[in-house]
This record gives sequence, C-alpha cells and structure tokens, in this order.
Amino acid sequence: MCHSSDFRLVSMWSRTIRHALLRPGDPPAWLNRHPPDVEEETMTVDRKRSVVFGEAVEEYEAARPGYPDRLVTEVLEYAPDGPVLEVGAGTGKATAGFAAHGVDLTCVEPDPRMAAALTRRCPQAKVEIGIFEDYVPDKAFALLYSAQAWHWVDRDRRWDLAHAALAPSGAVAVFWNLYGVTDPDLRAALAAVDRRYGVTTSSLHLDHSDRAEVVEHELADDPRFTDLDYRHYAHADRYSAGRYLDLVRSISAYRILDAESRERLLREIGALLGDEVDMTLTTDLFLGRRAD
Ligand SMILES: C[S@@+](CC[C@H](N)C(=O)[O-])C[C@H]1O[C@@H](n2cnc3c(N)ncnc32)[C@H](O)[C@@H]1O
Repeated sequence: MCHSSDFRLVSMWSRTIRHALLRPGDPPAWLNRHPPDVEEETMTVDRKRSVVFGEAVEEYEAARPGYPDRLVTEVLEYAPDGPVLEVGAGTGKATAGFAAHGVDLTCVEPDPRMAAALTRRCPQAKVEIGIFEDYVPDKAFALLYSAQAWHWVDRDRRWDLAHAALAPSGAVAVFWNLYGVTDPDLRAALAAVDRRYGVTTSSLHLDHSDRAEVVEHELADDPRFTDLDYRHYAHADRYSAGRYLDLVRSISAYRILDAESRERLLREIGALLGDEVDMTLTTDLFLGRRAD
C-alpha cells in the first residue's frame, strides 16, 4: 500500500527508481513529513553540532535504534563484491550489521569517544579517526554507506568524495532513521515544549524535513551516479520513558542547549510521558552506483 505522501516521495525519485518497498505496517501518513531525527533540517553542516555526539555516547548507545537486517542484506545485494567504506560510523549501530556479513570494512569517524565504542563493538573493522572530508582512501571501495551521518559531510564536496572513493560501478547507500511518537496529541504537546526552549529546527517532535528532497536532487542530478533506488522500512516499537529521554539527550538539537535548560526541558518532557511511549520507527534508504 502506498500513502499519498509516500507516493509524493517515491514519485520524486521516479526518474530512475526501480522499486519502492512499502511494507505492511507502513507509518501513518504524517510521518513522512515528520522525521524527528533530523539533526539539522536543511542539511547544511553545522560543525559545532556535528561533534556533540561523543558527549552522549552512553545515551546514544542506549536510545538510538539500529537498522533493519533487511536493509543491510539489500544494500549488500545491490553493491558489487569488494571492500566497504562507512562514513560517520559513530558507535557502530549500522557497522555491526554489515560486519556480521564478513565484509572487509573501513569506518571513518571523527569523534574519538564514538570511535572507541565502535572498536569495542566491531573489532574486525578498520577505524580511521577523522572527518570524511580529510580521509584519503587507500583502495577503491565497492560500497560506501552512511547511516544517519551523510548530512554532516560538506554538502559541496560529499558526492565528489563518494565518487572518488568508489571503484567503477561501486555503490553508494545513504540512510536515515526517523523516530516518531505515534500519538499525534502527545507529539504536539512535546513539540510545544521544544518551541518554548527554542528547539525549533531539528526537534524530535516538529514536522518538517527536506532531507529526502535534498538527497534526491543531489544524487539524481549528478550524472556520475546511476541506477538510483529508494527503499523504505517501517516498524512499531515501544520505548520506556527513560529510553525516550535518552533519545532526546542523544540528539544534537537538544545537546547544544545549556545544561540547565536541557534538564528543565527533559523534566517537562518526562512529565508528559507515561511509563512507556508508542513509537513508529522508519528508515529511508537511497541507493546509487557509479556510472563509470
Ligand atoms: C547521528 S551520528 C550517526 C552514527 C552512526 N552511523 C549511527 O547510525 O548510529 C553522526 C555521526 O557522524 C559523525 N560525523 C560528523 N561529521 C562527520 C564528517 N564530516 N565525516 C564523517 N563523520 C562525521 C559524528 O561524529 C557521528 O558519529
């Protein structure tokens, strides 16, 4: 089944789309305009915000969801065989799934605290500490993927860098999780708290993102990439109030608040939550491959 707003997203991608996998249990239509894990909505890179994750490694580990096994399998099926590069690997939430397939994996991660957690989780991966913009590949990769991190790479250079890192016909896969409180009334109440604290962009609760559009335009308009594809995965989950608050703590829009304001905001959010929160988690995946 394809909701009308899903169709809008899919049709944007339709020039070269092969198929969009919309499964039973797809998110409610509002979720497509409500991607709450938008660390920065406009996908311009905010350096201060891009380095705050390591301050909250434990919350990040505890609260952020991983990625569907099916996504990992489908990305590896799409890509040719060969070495794999991950950009912005963080603590390894996506890395673990790819490493389980025994691929030759190199991870680029600038935050040493995130990188330490990554090495503990995936000792078999080679970890390069630094930003992707400074990384000099020592081989041509069959696949470059980036989970929840591509928007942190310099927008003017990221596709050049991806192209340069890939072997001919090499694949690129960029994907993002979106986590939404399923109850619209609760979500609206949480958004009102955010607004009062000035968290008006990249909030966990506000309705807006142009991430899909930005990726669509950048990749679809770049003749160096072909065979483009969009896939969508969704499932429901239930978070304890504590895990939900850790999720808030792990998001850069809240991390950049001063500590006192953040704690007050967290108390207000906590007061609105019951013991548990129903969540709708979705993942959007964009695929392409080097045309030459
Ligand atoms: C939201 S986290 C995602 C981490 C992990 N991929 C995941 O899915 O949980 C974004 C990651 O991108 C990293 N990052 C920020 N700027 C980067 C850059 N320019 N190049 C590579 N990684 C970057 C951050 O340190 C952080 O670990």
